[in-house]
Amino acid sequence: MASVFHPLFSAYILLLLPLVAAQSSAGDIRPSTFIEATDDANPWLSSSNHFALGFHQLENKDQFLLAIWYYKIPNRTIVWYANGDKPAPRRSKVELTADQGLVLTDPNGLLIWRSDFATGEVAFATMNDTGNFVVYSDSESLWESFNNPTDTLLPTQVIDRGGLLSSRHKENNFSKGRFQFRLLPDGNAVLNSINLESNFTYVAYYISGTYDQQNSSNSGFQVRLDQDGSFYVLRGNNQTHSLSVGDEAPSADYHYRATLNFDGVLTLSSYPKNTGSSRNWSVVKTIPDNICTTNFAELGSGTCGFNSICTLKPDKRPECKCPPGYSLSDANEEYGNCQADFMQGCAADAQNSSQDLYKLVELQNTDWPTSDYERINPCSVNDCKAYCLQDCLCIVAVYNENGCWKKSLPLPYGRQDTQVTSISFLKVRKDNFAHKTPPTMPDKKGNQNSLIILISVLLGSSVFVNFLLVGILCMGSFFLYQKKISRNQRNKTIIQSSLRYFNYEEMEDATNGFKEELGRGSFGIVYKGVIDTDSQHQTGVAVKKLDRVVQDTDKEFRTEVSVIAQTHHRNLVKLLGYCDESQHRMLVYEYLSNGTLASFLFGDIKPSWNQRTEIAVGIARGLCYLHEECSPQIIHCDIKPQNILLDDYYEARISDFGLSKLLGTDQSFTNTNIRGTKGYVAPEWFKTVPVSVKVDVYSFGVLLLEIICCRRNVAMDVGEVEREILTDWACDCFLEGAVDALVDSDAEALSDKMKLERFVMAALWCIQEDISFRPTMKKVLLMLEGIIQVPAPPFTSPLTSHSCQI
Ligand SMILES: *[C@@H]1O[C@H](CO)[C@@H](O)[C@H](O)[C@H]1NC(C)=O
Ligand SMILES: *[C@@H]1O[C@H](CO)[C@@H](O)[C@H](O)[C@H]1NC(C)=O
Ligand SMILES: *[C@@H]1O[C@H](CO)[C@@H](O)[C@H](O)[C@H]1NC(C)=O
Ligand SMILES: *[C@@H]1O[C@H](CO)[C@@H](O)[C@H](O)[C@H]1NC(C)=O
Ligand SMILES: *[C@@H]1O[C@H](CO)[C@@H](O)[C@H](O)[C@H]1NC(C)=O
Ligand SMILES: *[C@@H]1O[C@H](CO)[C@@H](O)[C@H](O)[C@H]1NC(C)=O
Ligand SMILES: *[C@@H]1O[C@H](CO)[C@@H](O)[C@H](O)[C@H]1NC(C)=O
Ligand SMILES: *[C@@H]1O[C@H](CO)[C@@H](O)[C@H](O)[C@H]1NC(C)=O
Repeated sequence: MASVFHPLFSAYILLLLPLVAAQSSAGDIRPSTFIEATDDANPWLSSSNHFALGFHQLENKDQFLLAIWYYKIPNRTIVWYANGDKPAPRRSKVELTADQGLVLTDPNGLLIWRSDFATGEVAFATMNDTGNFVVYSDSESLWESFNNPTDTLLPTQVIDRGGLLSSRHKENNFSKGRFQFRLLPDGNAVLNSINLESNFTYVAYYISGTYDQQNSSNSGFQVRLDQDGSFYVLRGNNQTHSLSVGDEAPSADYHYRATLNFDGVLTLSSYPKNTGSSRNWSVVKTIPDNICTTNFAELGSGTCGFNSICTLKPDKRPECKCPPGYSLSDANEEYGNCQADFMQGCAADAQNSSQDLYKLVELQNTDWPTSDYERINPCSVNDCKAYCLQDCLCIVAVYNENGCWKKSLPLPYGRQDTQVTSISFLKVRKDNFAHKTPPTMPDKKGNQNSLIILISVLLGSSVFVNFLLVGILCMGSFFLYQKKISRNQRNKTIIQSSLRYFNYEEMEDATNGFKEELGRGSFGIVYKGVIDTDSQHQTGVAVKKLDRVVQDTDKEFRTEVSVIAQTHHRNLVKLLGYCDESQHRMLVYEYLSNGTLASFLFGDIKPSWNQRTEIAVGIARGLCYLHEECSPQIIHCDIKPQNILLDDYYEARISDFGLSKLLGTDQSFTNTNIRGTKGYVAPEWFKTVPVSVKVDVYSFGVLLLEIICCRRNVAMDVGEVEREILTDWACDCFLEGAVDALVDSDAEALSDKMKLERFVMAALWCIQEDISFRPTMKKVLLMLEGIIQVPAPPFTSPLTSHSCQI
């Protein structure tokens, strides 16, 4: 058969094809014409190819949306859709019928959607160059997409009184969303949310004010968008009320559209018509200006779900984040509700005799403006914190110039913004050092957490019980991990599916050609980068380019990476992906905005005592997890302030763990092979003994002293020789009963003397030269939290300059 067609003949057909397509696109669509939903179905085009109506393939490649989009704009921007709530399966068909206009049916001929009009015989239909799809009879238009808008208003399209735009569910999910833009019968244009179950309309969060009380015939009667980008409410007396007073002057050189986004922000955006260099949509104006600080009604949630915190991105669209200690109720609903990872409330609290169940997380410029049940005024910050801690109903205390507001669950309209002057103190349970759910086994982990909390609640709080609990926790996790490991052994090279693979080119793109250096370590250089999380979102990453990986085979490298990938803890930096292309091996971590502990601790502004102690406890938790809960156990080997990062909430996150194997240092070291950093390394590194988790305990001790004192371990510029080596000086101070001297004149620390002594003693235990004297990290954690008494550290090893000498 193939030989029948001469190559030239095929070329001729190829040449002809576009012509045919162009011709049919210019013409009208006659009844019985149809499009079938397949991967490469051709849409119906407008005469100048500005717009197309056809099938848009959804994320699930077997589902299709009947939609209209800009045909010439590379990034598909959908302006209208028919079947948002009912995606059409593959091989569905949209047909122009003589009696019903557009009809969308599934492969079995069942109706999915049709254009609704009263009566009339269809003569033809047109995809107009304005973006309007029109079904005509011989004499008039029977149905227009412009009269049945979805979430977008195009130039020359109008919304009459009673008309509305309705948001989609998410950027790539076209189901009906929670938000509406309506022109009310009284002439006001409003934005409101609805309850999706009942269709109940909540009170508007934006009102145009175009209802004229004196003369109602002058009220608004249409919302319009003109070709030049003017977006306004037209009043009865032909006056306009502009909705688009933005920075950009109206211009005919742009495409404009007004879209009600799934997050409730109405955006007027423009796209240059001429082929310039930067061709993308840019925001002209958003309504409301700042949705995070907009006051919603008294009911329903705002743009973010309950217990969530809203922050405004540069494009004036919101980002929703769960506060520390909380996570999304539904991991797929980024804008949904958050729930606490721990149990709280009067019933739960009453089970525990301890007064000290919670710590407060301080959130600057953060408010939950409603849901308060008590206000105390006047009130000091410290009293405010104490009142909330003592009150089992209190979930968060918000402190501002008007006093102290105690709030209970659920917490709607959370916001963090520089305009907000309130500070929130959020109660988070201390004994919950269980962690974020690993994506692979959500159920198990969830049960495990609640199991631990349940046990914690049921038992008393004696030291013995606490050890027992930690034991159970560590063993439980051990078994879980054993299971996981054995599963992994079946196919060692499979890396968790949540981990992304990047090729070298992608890494080059992400880091802009390895341009911005964040730091250098023993492994190589760290670069700042940006990756796409999906088609709409990007996230900052830190790319570690490993310059001396020893593993020969991809398989070994991947096994090591998968060990790191299995760690999930809120005090560890998360690994997002890796690159492994010939010689290029890189690890891609989440980017943490607040830098390293080193710069925080030794910078110009001294962090508060409270913040410092929280950070120390966080690091201890992270290490405890690496030592006790990971299988195989992970020894960090290089704990120092440069390797501790701080997240948005200044919570400590350990980085660079799990790298020692990748870098070819095994567990029996000799002098030539010292990993770690001078000043932080344990004395046994200089001997030929097997290295154990206790090297991390030592380094942690040094780090803890640095955190307490806000200075580096070795500082030659302090003036007094006795103070140059912090570990020595701390011993001296402790022996002389003068730990106060260590914190200089830090009033907050001095007023918290018991904790100060506890922390110093714990640190002195950690830096014992005799390995067997050094406590495990879990014991250190219990010491820091004040759950067990810290005995006075021993002073029996006069041979070292690191341990205390008498
Ligand atoms: C079709 O588009 C033209 C301009 O291209 C416009 O003048 C006309 O009003 C549009 N018709 C409809 C029904 O939208
Ligand atoms: C879109 O979201 C709705 C509501 O959560 C859900 O029921 C539906 O399955 C989603 N559709 C797609 C295609 O993911
Ligand atoms: C809500 O409105 C939609 C149409 O927008 C309708 O299909 C649905 O049945 C309504 N739900 C209720 C509970 O009235
Ligand atoms: C209301 O305004 C219209 C047009 O501006 C005017 O013709 C009419 O007389 C006014 N009616 C009253 C009651 O003021
Ligand atoms: C408003 O303008 C339209 C067209 O420009 C005109 O037909 C109408 O009479 C005007 N209405 C008033 C109240 O001025
Ligand atoms: C979009 O275009 C604007 C200029 O119109 C430019 O500043 C911006 O960087 C561009 N954004 C992207 C993502 O290309
Ligand atoms: C297209 O979308 C992607 C992802 O959203 C974005 O990175 C890219 O800059 C966009 N391209 C243009 C030309 O706007
Ligand atoms: C009581 O609370 C403390 C935290 O202060 C916790 O360590 C302990 O495990 C709890 N006791 C029980 C029995 O839950």
